[in-house]
Amino acid sequence: MQTVDRVDGAAVSPASTFTRLGVIGCGLMGSGIAEVAARAGLDVAVREVDRSALSAGRSRLVASLDRGVRGGKLSEAERDTVLGRLTFTTEIDAFGDRDVVVEAVAENEQVKSEIFAALDKVVSRPDAIFASNTSSIPIMKLGMATSRPEQVVGIHFFNPVPVQKLVEIVPSLLTSAETVNAAQGFVTERLGKEVIRSQDRAGFVVNALLVPYLLAAVRMLESGFAAADDIDRGMVLGCAHPMGPLRLSDLIGLDTIKAVAESLYEEFKEPLYSPPPLLMRMVDAGLLGKKSGRGFHNYAA
Ligand code: 3HC
Repeated sequence: MQTVDRVDGAAVSPASTFTRLGVIGCGLMGSGIAEVAARAGLDVAVREVDRSALSAGRSRLVASLDRGVRGGKLSEAERDTVLGRLTFTTEIDAFGDRDVVVEAVAENEQVKSEIFAALDKVVSRPDAIFASNTSSIPIMKLGMATSRPEQVVGIHFFNPVPVQKLVEIVPSLLTSAETVNAAQGFVTERLGKEVIRSQDRAGFVVNALLVPYLLAAVRMLESGFAAADDIDRGMVLGCAHPMGPLRLSDLIGLDTIKAVAESLYEEFKEPLYSPPPLLMRMVDAGLLGKKSGRGFHNYAA
């Protein structure tokens, strides 16, 4: 890890100077990232497109903190302290003083590129980190939307963010070694996560392995090979997975699975990556999994 000289001569990790985080998007992943960072003591600004999305995102985050209170992981006073570290805004201009920004909006390349272009204009720190939590869009494309592609890197979290230890660090061809090391230091030293590195290839390491498996489960259901509960119970009881592939797809969100599958297919042209018709129709129908109340399983209750 590269170090920065302090005035008194001691060396400090650049990660220790990253105290102000911006999170763009307060959906499933953005709210989890903001929660983890605020619990780790960072000053966190969260941005959503409008007041209603902001309010829904804030409620999601508060519900997750309340779950921690109920489970005895934090006191009510600690929850309030964590909430005090969070600022909710609809303005991207509020991100001017951020040290690190993590974009976590829906998987739409144009929207993400516009966000990176806007951030490039407002963030003033010369060595700020511009990160994306994308699971399907090349980091290179997001870097090229800015004038500082050497500072753009993938920082890919896993759902539920407060629970899963892993973060994938994904440099593009133009990301500098300083940015990669600083991002890794930020994620491990400030957020307490474990990292692996991946090249900027569709799916990175984990989704490139996981998504074909999830798609295979959808095809198995679609073809009438086995029922949803049997497929899920098979992998939980037979292979000690914490949840079966259809329930996991519901947790991740079927729209996200479809986006990752399309990006894998576009990159590698392997039939096993192509999203099966059942998945496409469910997304069209708004059956997105747990977040919409229904996917392969029902969550209405
Ligand atoms: N937020 C915070 N904590 C949560 C949580 C959430 N949303 N969901 C569960 N937890 C915590 C609980 O508080 C509990 O903590 P404790 O053991 O310290 O009390 C622990 O996790 C276990 O929770 P539960 O007992 O309620 O439920 P389960 O034992 O069924 O665990 C699960 C739920 C953690 C989701 C577990 O089933 C699991 O790990 N599943 C696999 C998830 C996975 O594979 N995620 C990766 C998806 S891929 C991805 O995200 C990449 C993307 O790009 C597609």
